[in-house]
Amino acid sequence: MEEPKRISRGSRLPEFYKRSVEERLEAVSEIRKLGAESIEALRRGGGLSIEGANAAIENVVSTISYPLGIATNFRINDRDVLVPMATEEPSVIAAASKAAKDARPGGGFHSKAGAVWWGTGEIHLDRIADVAEAQKRLTEHQGELIEECREIMRKNSRTTVSRGGDVRGIEATALKTREGEKLLVKVFVDTVDSMGANTINTILEGIGPRIAEITSGRLLLPIVSNLDDFKIVTASVRIGRDVAGGEEMVDKIVSAAASAEADPYRAATHNKGILNGVIAVATATMQDARAIEAGAHAHAAMQFRNIANDGYKPSRYTTLSTWSRDENGDLVGTLEMPMPVARIGGATRHPVAQACFEIMDVHTAPELAEIMGAVGLAQNYAALRAIAYEGIQKGHMRLAKRGH
Ligand code: MEV
Repeated sequence: MEEPKRISRGSRLPEFYKRSVEERLEAVSEIRKLGAESIEALRRGGGLSIEGANAAIENVVSTISYPLGIATNFRINDRDVLVPMATEEPSVIAAASKAAKDARPGGGFHSKAGAVWWGTGEIHLDRIADVAEAQKRLTEHQGELIEECREIMRKNSRTTVSRGGDVRGIEATALKTREGEKLLVKVFVDTVDSMGANTINTILEGIGPRIAEITSGRLLLPIVSNLDDFKIVTASVRIGRDVAGGEEMVDKIVSAAASAEADPYRAATHNKGILNGVIAVATATMQDARAIEAGAHAHAAMQFRNIANDGYKPSRYTTLSTWSRDENGDLVGTLEMPMPVARIGGATRHPVAQACFEIMDVHTAPELAEIMGAVGLAQNYAALRAIAYEGIQKGHMRLAKRGH
């Protein structure tokens, strides 16, 4: 049946791209029933005043801003979602919207944040004469150290604690390095809806001297880890063979993905395509995009995959997503990556970021992570399909001009 040529409820907004900026804003405000503050923030734009910028970072001489658009058609976890994306790259939003449209007949995207959503902090200690003995002493003091960490967290991260944040554990292992054997202490912190870097660093710097005392070691690196393997999101999608462009197209996409898994040079570009989507949502919501990227690439280097069809092995740097065909010949994509995002605190207080949360109707960090995982997978499919179909230059340029 022909789609009605009008703004509908949900995320299907046919010919959205043909509307004026003001009409688009009105449509989004109406569909999402945005509050006056959000509408005003979006209308005003997110550019910082020079005073605001000067208060935010050092040595300010100017500001720079990004265009912010809305990706349409997304259905994620059985809910229509309008996705705000800020990017300087043309065709990213059009491509995501087209991918989301192709995913709809198969039920859209399913995305799940891990049940455990902790950040990890590390303290490295060197100059320890007997690492095994130091490890033992630390284990004996574990309960007391966790309580001290909790006390630091209660004092410094009240909002996170009030939302259920807590220190979940301390673990010590030996680390062999070219500068000798060290003690590596990991502190696990449930940072709930905040990104957690400041909370964790404050805990580590507070507890570090006590740990150095107990272990008789030199305090070396009290710092958060950006390999956030307790904040993993997994997304999946099924795109019908015919919607994807037929059997040959599905075959090319699956084969292209297999090449990317096996070739780090291609994997880096494949993952860059995923990050085009992920980071555009991160930028719109003022996330620490570098933390997401660092985690993504580290995770991509730590996979066990059956890359050459000769058994599961630790791979080299590989893809964050996989593409295969199911028994009907439909295309099936999955993505797994760390998504250390914040729903509260830091720069997410920016009024436009707040408006973006309202547009997506997300209230927790894991909910945001789930959307971002789905967008990453959509972006990846769009890139693979465009490359397989007519080449990225032609394909994306056409999308950017004609809309979707
Ligand atoms: C361009 O920004 C991203 C792509 O190169 C990703 C890919 O090759 O899969 C199109």
